[in-house]
Amino acid sequence: MFEYKAKISVLGLLFCANACASESVDVLHWWTSASERGATRFLQSKLLEEKIEWRDAAIPGGGGIGAMRVLKSRVLAGKQPAVAQLIGPAIAEWADLGLILELDQVAKTHGWHKSLSPTVSNLLMHREHTVAAPLGLHRINNLYYNVRLFRQLGLPEPRSMDDFKRAALRLAAANIIPLGQSSEAWQVATLFETLVLMEGGPTFYRDVFVERSATAYLDARFARALNRLRQMRTYTHVGAGKLPREQSWTDVAQQFAAGQIGMVIMGDWFKGELLSMGQKLDTDFACTTVPNTQQYHLYSIDSFVMFSGDYSQQTVQEKVAQLMVSMPVQQGYNRIKGSVPVRRDLDPKAIAALDRCAASSWQTFNRGKVVQAPSLVHRMATDEKFKDAIVAQIQKFYLDDRISVADYQQRMSAMVRALNIQEGNME
Ligand code: BGC
Repeated sequence: MFEYKAKISVLGLLFCANACASESVDVLHWWTSASERGATRFLQSKLLEEKIEWRDAAIPGGGGIGAMRVLKSRVLAGKQPAVAQLIGPAIAEWADLGLILELDQVAKTHGWHKSLSPTVSNLLMHREHTVAAPLGLHRINNLYYNVRLFRQLGLPEPRSMDDFKRAALRLAAANIIPLGQSSEAWQVATLFETLVLMEGGPTFYRDVFVERSATAYLDARFARALNRLRQMRTYTHVGAGKLPREQSWTDVAQQFAAGQIGMVIMGDWFKGELLSMGQKLDTDFACTTVPNTQQYHLYSIDSFVMFSGDYSQQTVQEKVAQLMVSMPVQQGYNRIKGSVPVRRDLDPKAIAALDRCAASSWQTFNRGKVVQAPSLVHRMATDEKFKDAIVAQIQKFYLDDRISVADYQQRMSAMVRALNIQEGNME
């Protein structure tokens, strides 16, 4: 009943969009799955309450690969959107070009920097100016498992890699795919970065993906992560001789919900998607952290920037930014999206309303930098060029099991050194 009423009111709000809204903004983003659309609809309804129409420019492609290309070509053609999803160091790169609206006044009036953790705050800053509005915090080192299958097979929640292995073998024996994993480049690399964190912890992780140390790629911990990736690949199918399959992450979610897959390692947008499919947390599926990473937080922070253009939309853009960070939007949006609020100042009631995975994500992240690892794949660690080169190489390694780990390490290390030299960072 509640859901029905909510749908009617969103429909009502959308229906009167043109008539009721006094301003509209063009929003470019990469949210196209069911939960992402649900979260977007929530934002649209909140904006409409303020008489702002969100004109949608959604570009399909998990991880935002397509959206970034479209954004570049739109800007080059002088047709930049008023609002765009932009995350991580890319925010500063675009701000460097002088195209992004400064949001200092909004940030000051609404005390953003007092209520955000230093990591989030820093991401929004460019030359002492606030240039982005943060919406949600995703955790990537999550393990999802099918509760019914685990119960049927008498399997406990995997807390260690031994538990994980045992579960994988039992699932395979029952003819269930143990680990749902697409061979799409960004999805393989998302798994791999979790394994680097597992094997090396946050400091080593940063050496590899943030500091881009060529010697870190030759390290034994990097070798262990590569071996683990190979091991993981053996769990992605049942029976011999099957090749890795390139699927969208939402297809993996469908298969998981249908009971064809036992476990999935993925960012918590996966939880949002399962919930939007009607799956119940702890009844149909459960989430926990990937073994040996429970005290760490591999993060991606979704944020939006406002393109300044001729400044004619500044007032409405500031209002959009303010709404995104406001407490009611943070709480409502993140519940649908699978992420958690970026704000540290949640009251005890709001904290109690988080499910167990969300609570663990929020609490762990707010312990500070020592436990945090910025996602390479989801644009938190370094620039696009470096990210794309590494992601492509990881997929190659995953697809071709004839490459030896030692050769691959040499190749990666040489590539990293060359990229660093090209960009003037010596190592
Ligand atoms: C974004 C999420 C999104 C996911 C899948 C990530 O890079 O941060 O918001 O749901 O990609 O498209």
